[in-house]
Order: sequence, then C-alpha cells, then structure tokens
Amino acid sequence: MDNPSNPPKAPRGAVEARNRQAYDRMVQTKHFLTQPVSTEELANPLATLDAKGWLGGNIRGWNVLCLAAGGGRQGPLYCAAGANVTVLDISPGMLQLDRQVSAQLGLNYKIIQGDMAELSMFQHDEFDLVAHPVSTCYVPNIEPVFAEIARVLRPGGLYVSQHKQPMNLQASLELVQGRYVIETPVGHAAKSLSIGQSSLLREPETVEFAHSLDAILGGICRTGMSIEAISEPDHANLDSEPGTMGHRSRFIRPYLRIKARKSAGSTKARKILLG
Ligand SMILES: C[S@@+](CC[C@H](N)C(=O)[O-])C[C@H]1O[C@@H](n2cnc3c(N)ncnc32)[C@H](O)[C@@H]1O
Repeated sequence: MDNPSNPPKAPRGAVEARNRQAYDRMVQTKHFLTQPVSTEELANPLATLDAKGWLGGNIRGWNVLCLAAGGGRQGPLYCAAGANVTVLDISPGMLQLDRQVSAQLGLNYKIIQGDMAELSMFQHDEFDLVAHPVSTCYVPNIEPVFAEIARVLRPGGLYVSQHKQPMNLQASLELVQGRYVIETPVGHAAKSLSIGQSSLLREPETVEFAHSLDAILGGICRTGMSIEAISEPDHANLDSEPGTMGHRSRFIRPYLRIKARKSAGSTKARKILLG
C-alpha cells in the first residue's frame, strides 16, 4: 500500500527526461498547448497575460524570466509588452517554436534550454518578474524550484505562477458510477495519458505530480516570498458533457494562480547574515 506522505522515488533526471520527450512529441503532433501566440493576442499583450491586473499595467523595461514557458507564446507576449525577456524550458521542441515565432515577428529575446530547478546561469536578484505557467506538476520536488526563483528575483520582484490544483491531478478524468473519484494519493504521480488519448486537463505521456497545497503555497512562503493574491480560474460550463473540462470544472477548479513578492529587504538581510 502506498504511503501518501512518501511518494515513490524515480531516479534523478528520469522524470525530467520523460517530460522533455513528451513535450517534444506534443510539438511534433501539434498538441493544442504548443500553439504559438496569435496576432489578436499580441495586439494587447498585457490583457492576454494579466487579466487580473496583477502586473500594474506597465512592464516596459522589466527583466522577465518566463520559466518553463517555451512554445512561442509567453516569450513573444512579454516581449511585445516591452519587457526584456528570457525564456527557459526543458524541451528543445518547445524552444524551437520560440525561435521560429521570434524570427517571424522580428522579436528579440533570450532562449535557454534547462531545468526549472537549476537556474545557476542567472545572477542573484536578476529579474523583476518570474512568470511561471503551469509546470510545477512536472517535477517531483518543487521546494528547490521555489528556492531558485526567490534567489534570482530582485528584492520587491514579483513571482506570478499557475499550478494544477492537487485535486485536479488526484481525481479521475471520467465519471466512475456517476462521480469523479479520487484515485491518486496527494504527492504521487497522476495516471498518465498515453499517446492518442486526449484531455484538456492532462498532457499525454507526461509524469505529473499532485503536489499538496502545503508544497505549493507553503513552499512559496518558506522561501520568504509573500503571497499577495490567489485566484482559481473558472473553466466550468453548465452545458458541457460529463468527462469534459467544462463539466469536471464545476466540481474541481483545475488551476491555482498565485501572485507572490520577494520581500524588499531580502538582499539586505542576506548580506547582513552572510557578510
Ligand atoms: C504548459 S507548458 C507552458 C508553456 C505554454 N506554451 C504556455 O504558454 O502556457 C509547460 C512547459 O513546461 C516545460 N517543462 C516541463 N518540465 C520542465 C522542467 N523540469 N524544467 C523546465 N521546463 C519544463 C515543458 O517543456 C512545457 O513547455
């Protein structure tokens, strides 16, 4: 019997390699998550990126790290909003889309292949904003990811992220005897979809971990960042069929969006402590 608080360990790097291959394959098969940005979205980039106004309406000149955000969408949008952009992602296929789209649009930003848990190529306090679309589900342990984010953010800098809710990854995609049922213990990997299976809620062939709220919210707080706002984007649709995202989202909100800030005194405090 699995112990929910002790998820099984995979060899170091194996999960990352599998997710890299899965995303490379998704690019080849033109999965919807690999669709680059559209001209309409680019026309008003901040409206597309920041419906809640968490970024304050003007990010011109900001140094922005788009973390685990390849695919020719996030990079071009932040660039079009006037930021100096770096995109980091583990999948060469997703980053190739960034190269294509930036060349087509004449946009210039840095593109780096790497793992979100290892940001040693960046200085302390380098970024005004780390923008992190859904992807913490792809690493078994998110604590080192949050530690690196807090390190590369400048004091007072923002961390805006979206995550799959624990229950989204714990529950069945289909109804079982008329109900969505919990099938994955918290902290463990959810059932993978195989190639050809489709869902708006899980990506084929990836390994995705149902991180607890303690790991997500507590993990951000334990780095010293402060959470300023949280939202649960509403994807419910009253008319949709059972087993669809619209139907399931009436019961389980799929995502958690979080605005956090590194304390303005962080660097000073570190300098006093470390000399
Ligand atoms: C949902 S996509 C986000 C990008 C998408 N184009 C968007 O605009 O929302 C998740 C991304 O996480 C990346 N990824 C998965 N595991 C990663 C890891 N360990 N380090 C860095 N990126 C990772 C995938 O390659 C993929 O591009």
